[in-house]
Amino acid sequence: MGSSSATTSSPTAARLPEGGPSILVGVAGGIAAYKAADVVGALRRRGARVTVLLSRNAARFVSPLALRTLSGRPVGEDLFDEPAEWGVGHVTLAKEADAFVVVAATADLIARLAAGEAGDFVTAAALVYHPKPLLLAPAMNTAMWRHPAVRANLRTLRARGARILDPASGLLACGDVGDGKLPDPAVIAGEAWALARPDARPGAGAELAGRRVLVTAGPTREALDPVRFLSNPSSGRMGYQVAAACRDLGAEVTLVSGPVELPDPPGVRVVRVVSAREMLEACRGPFTRAHALIACAAVSDWRPARPSGSKVKKTGRGASLRLEPNPDILFTLSRAKGRRVLVGFAAETDDLLANARAKLERKRLDLLVANPVDGGRGFGSEANEAWILAPGAEPRHFGPGPKSELAALLARDVADLLRRRG
Ligand SMILES: Cc1cc2nc3c(=O)[nH]c(=O)nc-3n(C[C@H](O)[C@H](O)[C@H](O)COP(=O)(O)O)c2cc1C
Repeated sequence: MGSSSATTSSPTAARLPEGGPSILVGVAGGIAAYKAADVVGALRRRGARVTVLLSRNAARFVSPLALRTLSGRPVGEDLFDEPAEWGVGHVTLAKEADAFVVVAATADLIARLAAGEAGDFVTAAALVYHPKPLLLAPAMNTAMWRHPAVRANLRTLRARGARILDPASGLLACGDVGDGKLPDPAVIAGEAWALARPDARPGAGAELAGRRVLVTAGPTREALDPVRFLSNPSSGRMGYQVAAACRDLGAEVTLVSGPVELPDPPGVRVVRVVSAREMLEACRGPFTRAHALIACAAVSDWRPARPSGSKVKKTGRGASLRLEPNPDILFTLSRAKGRRVLVGFAAETDDLLANARAKLERKRLDLLVANPVDGGRGFGSEANEAWILAPGAEPRHFGPGPKSELAALLARDVADLLRRRG
């Protein structure tokens, strides 16, 4: 950064509402940076004390004057020229903040955050802010978003507790169509507000209060020998989002998860398993107590019939593998359905709706989310496209849209079904 205009002081800092949470809005140097102004405005309207910090290139994309005016406070532009009243601003502000959201997090800023750099206001404050969870709203070109380096950096940040808002899909500023669009500023502001005021999440303690929800997520692994397994590319993200969405509506959530790289969602009981049989056993107890089961896991249909106890040696010849079927977890549990609400997922490459409809009936499901998983859609991606089937109803189309939105929609559907069931 290092611009000579440095930190912009506000001569007319507005009086801030008493008791409002303190929220840092970090702004990065991408084309969507101007939308940070809307996030700041939305947070101010809710009564937050908002302080804007700029990354080294943010001021090239959005006017510090606009952000100063909207936040009613000085804007941190130059780490080496902070407003006197802040003291050592990146330290004091980060310590007192109730939430820290980075709007239009760029690939570059994400890399610097993952590397632990501290060369500008956003990265320096983010280091001090740890271990409180950073909220990142990334926005970038689709190819950048999908680049393995960006994915790895995001995994690193997630593992350290950061929350990443899935970008939306659509027409990007560069003219490409795909994922990488900044989510709606109102959604970003809502998430930041919820982090600052966990008791103020929309609907918290409401539609699913007093309900117990069991969620399964991720792939399973079926051992061939101690170092090899059969599995699939499920990231677990959909199930983790569903668990968080049910928690946000007040449910007591148990998440039975196959091997994934996601951190435990706060406020959710997580049981980690590896194989399909372990997943079924881990589900049995929570299922007897649950009001609803949402089965998002991509369970391996087969397992090697005779896994080897020691590493199978290379022979230079071909080898054949005999498989035997795994238990169908959803089908097994559905036989004791009772009054529970059951939701399944079907990832299909062919005849999506016909296969989904058959599964809905065979497993006595109340809802089935059918995902096309061809051409890079579905598994491992941040967004999802789906058809939601229910007995006797026309399929509803969703997306493509962020998995968090689909999760919120499903949590509300489950709440509705439970309410109607009494
Ligand atoms: C016109 C233009 C638009 C850009 N938009 C984005 C963007 O949307 N997302 C992104 O990650 N990088 C984008 N970049 C690249 C960043 O500006 C660049 O990586 C910069 O170093 C990021 O600054 P920061 O680290 O302060 O965020 C853009 C660059 C230009 C010239």
